Amino acid sequence: MVGSVLLERMRAEGDFAGLSTTFYSTSQVGEEGPSVSDGGSQGGPDGAGEGRSPLADAYDLSALSQHDAILTCQGGDYTKQVLPQLREQGWNGYWIDAASAKRMDDDSVLVLDPVNRVVIDRGIDSGIKNFIGGNCTVSLMLLALDGLFGEDLIEWMTCMTYQAASGGGALHMRELVSQMATIGEKSADLLEDGGAGILPLDQRVTDIIRSEGMPIENFGAPLAASLLPWIDRPMDSGETREEWKAFAEGNKILGRSGDPVPIDSICVRVGAMRCHSQAFTIKLRKDVPLADIEAILKSANDWVHLVRNDKEATLAELTPAAVSGTLDIPIGRVRKTRLGDDYMSAFSVGDQLLWGAAEPLRRVLRILRESGV
Ligand code: HSE
Repeated sequence: MVGSVLLERMRAEGDFAGLSTTFYSTSQVGEEGPSVSDGGSQGGPDGAGEGRSPLADAYDLSALSQHDAILTCQGGDYTKQVLPQLREQGWNGYWIDAASAKRMDDDSVLVLDPVNRVVIDRGIDSGIKNFIGGNCTVSLMLLALDGLFGEDLIEWMTCMTYQAASGGGALHMRELVSQMATIGEKSADLLEDGGAGILPLDQRVTDIIRSEGMPIENFGAPLAASLLPWIDRPMDSGETREEWKAFAEGNKILGRSGDPVPIDSICVRVGAMRCHSQAFTIKLRKDVPLADIEAILKSANDWVHLVRNDKEATLAELTPAAVSGTLDIPIGRVRKTRLGDDYMSAFSVGDQLLWGAAEPLRRVLRILRESGV
């Protein structure tokens, strides 16, 4: 799914122009590959051939090793298997990866260039060859709070997340819709009968989501008409790995793993399709006036924008329904809290397949090309 979104974005931005591209697959070798519609060539690593070519074998190390750069959305198992073999054989090209497998390794840089271009450039200059996209929730959080991190105003913070089905993958998105359909179909009679009262309808929905007829193969529990406060695997700290990533990856992206900002999270799956939302409580290093906070937030990068803290603007601009399929990073509900003058809260939404996954990868490919390495 990330690969499909990435291709769309690369075509839209003309990224294939001047590139000799080969598409590889682990499961569909020989099938027709995607088109590169902007005039770039597609074929062997030498750039031979135009138009759509058959998908090559993603385990063919000798073919892979002819490329200057490999960009993969195949997943961590593939990375763990193929990258060490390529390096052992002496391949010295750039590995750009959506998966988490290499994120915390010392020989990798996490990429989110609107936030950490300096860290990326330093990595390129020092000979780093692995450039890895961060966790979606973390990248979206850093883009939203770019201004406050840039001014080093955050002493510590919490992120309470509301993560979409797409974070689990395409099958999870289908399962969410299928769960919704099951509820709709099996409660239609009571929904249509306006005089039936709400309690029977509520009881019916509860019975449906607890029943064996509810499709839960992928999530393991009903998500529609419910939520799931557990994402990824457990860690000794009592956090889930998804929660740990905000602290570990967030600070690595910022280039401050040696002086980390404490970030604590509870990550929750909700019934949104592809936008992750997050509520932040932030302890500021000092009392900054609210107007200054707003000005800092909204001017930090080209994608973040401030949403007025009222109902009309919030419902129009600060929801997954409004943001899905866009590169917008709205941040709203910004206010000082009753915890003290140096505390603030905020809420942000972002498309986890775009800025959360595909966009940082296509942009670092462009950065590498432009830097002439
Ligand atoms: N781990 C994320 C999630 C998605 O489950 O929502 C990818 O980073």
